[in-house]
Amino acid sequence: MKNDKIIKPRLIIHGGAGKLEGTSDRQEQINRSLKTVCQSSYLTLIEQGARESVLHAIRSLEDDSLFNAGTGSRLQADGEIRMSSSIMDSSTGIFSAVINVQNIRHPIDIADMLSREKHTVLAGKVATDFCRNRGVDYHDPITELRLAEYERQIKGSHGTVGAVALDKSGTIVSGSSTGGIGYEIPGRVSDTATVAGNYSSSVAGASCTGIGEEIVNDAVAAGVVIRVENGMSIHEAVQNTIEKAKKSQKRYGLIALDCNSNIGYGFATEGMYYAYHDGNGITSFIDEMEFK
Ligand code: GLY
Repeated sequence: MKNDKIIKPRLIIHGGAGKLEGTSDRQEQINRSLKTVCQSSYLTLIEQGARESVLHAIRSLEDDSLFNAGTGSRLQADGEIRMSSSIMDSSTGIFSAVINVQNIRHPIDIADMLSREKHTVLAGKVATDFCRNRGVDYHDPITELRLAEYERQIKGSHGTVGAVALDKSGTIVSGSSTGGIGYEIPGRVSDTATVAGNYSSSVAGASCTGIGEEIVNDAVAAGVVIRVENGMSIHEAVQNTIEKAKKSQKRYGLIALDCNSNIGYGFATEGMYYAYHDGNGITSFIDEMEFK
């Protein structure tokens, strides 16, 4: 029988969860930037589908030094920036990721490139070598603000960007990118380039932000998607996950959506920056202590 279901495209993006740092002006700038990226990424979703939309959203956030990903990433304890990123696509079922790559502009593009390789996750120096061998240009992602934070040995509690999109063909794609938490042990691997931090199936997709070790311990993104596959609504799956996180004093948040165009988000931190497009327009938030 022909399936006449009309799928309504949806997009949700985040700019990190945790203690909201900086002045209220900076927080407002972040909110404005998220709205702009959400708008252009939604147009990409309509015109080019979920994968291009997620790539566009993450690239834009990596280019914006307000966010801790790409340019504007935090420095690790040895003064080096190492970035991680991943993408997962329900149309292929392939998760691909790059971990601790250095001196490139768009880690998400390397995660995307790796989805077409036999081995889909690369880490460290060989990941950077892979970029050079593929002709990816050198780019220094350091900013004055991040250097000053490093000199004061600031360990950030806020970072990571992410996007989840559903297109009219029913494909769900999720992507994440991070510069880490700042002043961490060199080479630390967080959640962002694992299925705990970023996961999609044909039923749902999720991208996480917050303390990577805690996200990995709770297998958050894959856990939410599997709960939805097992019959929970996206709202229940997110609520259930965030309630558990709050009880055990874990610090993370997530964005998610399902194949029926339902959007979910929640956080167990002081705040989270996020924006979504529900077909009618953009809704964006900063710092709300609640889950939806
Ligand atoms: N969630 C990003 C990190 O822990 O580095």
